[in-house]
Amino acid sequence: MSASQKIDFVVQPGGKLSGRVRVPGDKSISHRSVMFGSLAEGTTHVTGLLEGEDVLCTLAAFRAMGVRAQGPDNGRLVIEGVGVRGLTAPTRPLDMGNSGTAMRLMAGILAGQSFDSELFGDDSLSKRPMKRVSDPLGKMGAEIETADGGRPPLRIKGGRNLHGINYPLPVPSAQVKSCVLLAGLYADGETVVTEPAPTRDHTERMLRGFGYDVQVSGATARLRGGGRLRACHVDVPADISSAAFFLVGASIAPGSDLVLEHVGMNPTRVGVINILRLMGAELEVTSQREVGGEPVADIRVRSARLRGIHIPEDQVPLAIDEFPALFIAAACAEGETILSGAEELRVKESDRIAVMAQGLKRLGAGVRETPDGIVIQGGRIHGGEIESQGDHRIAMSFAMAALRAEGAITIRDAKNVDTSFPGFANLAAGAGLGIRVSI
Ligand code: S3P
Repeated sequence: MSASQKIDFVVQPGGKLSGRVRVPGDKSISHRSVMFGSLAEGTTHVTGLLEGEDVLCTLAAFRAMGVRAQGPDNGRLVIEGVGVRGLTAPTRPLDMGNSGTAMRLMAGILAGQSFDSELFGDDSLSKRPMKRVSDPLGKMGAEIETADGGRPPLRIKGGRNLHGINYPLPVPSAQVKSCVLLAGLYADGETVVTEPAPTRDHTERMLRGFGYDVQVSGATARLRGGGRLRACHVDVPADISSAAFFLVGASIAPGSDLVLEHVGMNPTRVGVINILRLMGAELEVTSQREVGGEPVADIRVRSARLRGIHIPEDQVPLAIDEFPALFIAAACAEGETILSGAEELRVKESDRIAVMAQGLKRLGAGVRETPDGIVIQGGRIHGGEIESQGDHRIAMSFAMAALRAEGAITIRDAKNVDTSFPGFANLAAGAGLGIRVSI
């Protein structure tokens, strides 16, 4: 299928979700496994890798800089690391596709190289803010040119001497935190980042897994440049952000009883579970274990009567990618759900507050946008046609909404689901969703 080909989802109303499902590997952890495996000394073996387009962009970028890798094949990838200083100049600009994570973390790595480089992305990524990374990297001594308004492409000058900084993050963003820490690998002295609220800490955990000394104390992470990464085995758990669609789907669809297997349960990612529980969801977390420094568990979810809540603001960074799915839960709950403190949703793959509000209104839900959130009146939803605006998580969220809708839901422009969840339609159909892909 060509990258430009449009696909739609057509989802029949009703049904329930049941059985056991393992969703694909965690996107954040997969990106990092490719990056750190490439920069390590020795051979890194990755299992459970997400073979989504975002991660494949990261892998292609490292291949273009001289890294050899076999796979991915069934989630297995073998990377021959070249060492922190072993990358070679790419002959072309590097395509980051739809992925903010790839672009922002790569910017940190590339700022420390001896060669010039350029990062670009698709239409959605080309609209996303990059000053949040070019600013701190500039403070470290990097030279980065952005397009107007601090947008991609990023032109990164090589051969700069970076120095460590002490950087309080102006926004709670794991991508910015990770970008600065990765540039810190190449910087003289110590690089220190302090976050305003806890965000996902996969970079800190995985750098340690690769033998790098990262100190974390409260909201502050620090490392010294000049060290080495040692190859290791990374076992990527299933992505809680992909599991979220099923947690919501099974919660809203009467008669559902579904087990999600081997889900990553990092405490900086479990906001969706905390919020759904506050709404009255029936979630049972079992078989808790640790895999490669990341907590993992199975989650059993049964349908429940959800109620509207005011979502605690401290949960927002812990559920930042799960709000499209949570808005569907809110539209099917009794009473009003209020989200505030979530302005970051406006600069994701789409403006997720505006695009979700537009779609929910199409289905007849009572919705009011606010600058930093949304107010949703729960009740009945009918069928209709939704524009996903090319945003993978919006497409999958509205697919699940059909389980409670009174008519079929058609979701336009669902191709980008492949960026994070290849095989979504098949897996969801196997669990009971009446979904069909229309080309
Ligand atoms: C990610 C961080 C988050 C998240 C994104 C993945 C990461 O972005 O939304 O999907 O892997 O570091 P922000 O850092 O912009 O919050």
